[in-house]
Amino acid sequence: MTNVVVVGSQWGDEGKGKIVDWLSERADIVVRFQGGHNAGHTLVIDGVSYKLSLLPSGIVRPGKIAVIGNGVVLDPHALLAEIEKLGAQGVKVTPENLRVADNATLILSLHRELDGMREDAASNSGTKIGTTRRGIGPAYEDKVGRRAIRVMDLADMETLPGKVDRILTHHNALRRGLGEKEVSHEAIMQELTSVADRVLPFRETVWELLDKQRRKGARILFEGAQGSLLDIDHGTYPFVTSSNTVAGQASAGSGMGPGALGYILGITKAYTTRVGEGPFPTELKDEIGQFLGEKGHEFGTVTGRKRRCGWFDAALVRQSVATNGITGIALTKLDVLDGLDELKICVGYMLDGQQIDHLPASQGAQARVEPVYVTLEGWKESTVGARSWADLPAQAIKYVRQVEELIGAPVALLSTSPERDDTILVTDPFED
Ligand code: IMP
Repeated sequence: MTNVVVVGSQWGDEGKGKIVDWLSERADIVVRFQGGHNAGHTLVIDGVSYKLSLLPSGIVRPGKIAVIGNGVVLDPHALLAEIEKLGAQGVKVTPENLRVADNATLILSLHRELDGMREDAASNSGTKIGTTRRGIGPAYEDKVGRRAIRVMDLADMETLPGKVDRILTHHNALRRGLGEKEVSHEAIMQELTSVADRVLPFRETVWELLDKQRRKGARILFEGAQGSLLDIDHGTYPFVTSSNTVAGQASAGSGMGPGALGYILGITKAYTTRVGEGPFPTELKDEIGQFLGEKGHEFGTVTGRKRRCGWFDAALVRQSVATNGITGIALTKLDVLDGLDELKICVGYMLDGQQIDHLPASQGAQARVEPVYVTLEGWKESTVGARSWADLPAQAIKYVRQVEELIGAPVALLSTSPERDDTILVTDPFED
């Protein structure tokens, strides 16, 4: 038995929701360790659909503890709204089943506003990132700048005013520079005091909770958000999110030492998608890209934006296998490829006349690379709902085997529809 970290191995939206739900049923504790309410997934349990952004998936299952770790940036208003929405669906969120790290950074309205102002300003110069505009980046900037307001600060009315002054000195200078109205000390104090009583009951010393639970033999599931290619260091910078999304962050973002992390499961879509701006070597701007988008329902859960679609990029996923230390993958949405005559997999790139096997770090080079493909025969049969290898056409099995070989990691789970049971289980990550 081991603990499990789930990460996305591409640009997010790999179909983590279904797999995390399947695993959270087997877990005692489910921990978010990075990102914030820029994430979004839908869980369908007994025919009821739950939309989660900030709360860990375990929250909808009785008897589990859901934890928001210190690596998350937490918008208290989004948290309270999500709790209320779940309450209306009959899911009670209490300090019994939700714990929030007392050292997690808060997202304030001024972060959300700055995110939007910068994206608007950048739109005019064609340099926008295409963020979710939820204040994620600005909140992480304040954390690293050592001027953030954290959950436990809500309980200390003696030090809070000084912290508010500090954060405002920085933000008001920026706002003046952008030609925007300044924010008053009173407005931020009011924003914080209006939520303090409702957020503080969830506060927890998370590293200690996890340490105790680990020693008792609890099964801990770490639920990553976004994807490895959106990682602030390892992703397609600057078109990335502002946190480390790779598996190592499960440790730093929760306070549990890396030795206890265990199985790293990389959720991997059978083709590639990305939302927002940035390089995407295998992007298909033709009818096949349209086919994948329509058949795969590729629209963002948080912003509703249309996702860009393209062929599977094995060079990029191989890179994610290395940067995450992926033990095995959960391959999702294979059925979306049903019916295509032939399928391409990117195995490397041409850059300035030279063949290379990984995406270079330079933004200019990333924009210039041309994918090198291998071509495989497609299959006409439906793979929807397959529950065993015997249910899959030979060409589909060949595609999966080729993916495994090219990325250097085995398939632990294969998902063949949004339904929970339509999954081929090769290895149970908790039992590996
Ligand atoms: P931010 O995280 O809002 O700062 O957005 C930065 C980039 O990450 C943008 O390209 C977003 O579209 C992308 N992004 C953020 N969260 C997700 C997600 O959950 N799925 C896919 N893309 C995301």
